[in-house]
Amino acid sequence: MQNQQAPILFDQKTASSYDKQTALWKTGREALFSFMRLILSELPADARILCVGAGTGTEMIALAQAFPQWQFTAVEPASAMLDVCRRKADESGIISRCTFHEGYLDSLPASEAFDAATYLLVSQFLTLFYYSHESIINY
Ligand SMILES: C[S@@+](CC[C@H](N)C(=O)[O-])C[C@H]1O[C@@H](n2cnc3c(N)ncnc32)[C@H](O)[C@@H]1O
Repeated sequence: MQNQQAPILFDQKTASSYDKQTALWKTGREALFSFMRLILSELPADARILCVGAGTGTEMIALAQAFPQWQFTAVEPASAMLDVCRRKADESGIISRCTFHEGYLDSLPASEAFDAATYLLVSQFLTLFYYSHESIINY
């Protein structure tokens, strides 16, 4: 189960301005992507990557450009964000290597195992239910 706020928060208006807004963090993002490329470079040449909360596809496209045979599955509950992601993947020439799933991870159809998953700037949107001091369950 998950909360259903993402499609409301990341509506058409937010999706269309998201990349412009986050361009302010360009330097930080580039550093993060460099680090990811370094860590993930040990994966097979034909790795399968799961991008959870793919948003407008920024990390997926950065990785796809660095690793030209990798395949990507973008999971994104907000349709407006996924539309931008799909369009950018097309414009970047990587769309044939991408599968797009509108929804949450629990509705993603079963497939071959992934070699790695990304989950950037997403966990702050998870709702935490505290059952006790020792036990936290993420929805
Ligand atoms: C701040 S954006 C980050 C997008 C992208 N990863 C990036 O770094 O630009 C957060 C994204 O996570 C999605 N999201 C929110 N809750 C989610 C959940 N429980 N599972 C998957 N995606 C979620 C939102 O719809 C939104 O597109």
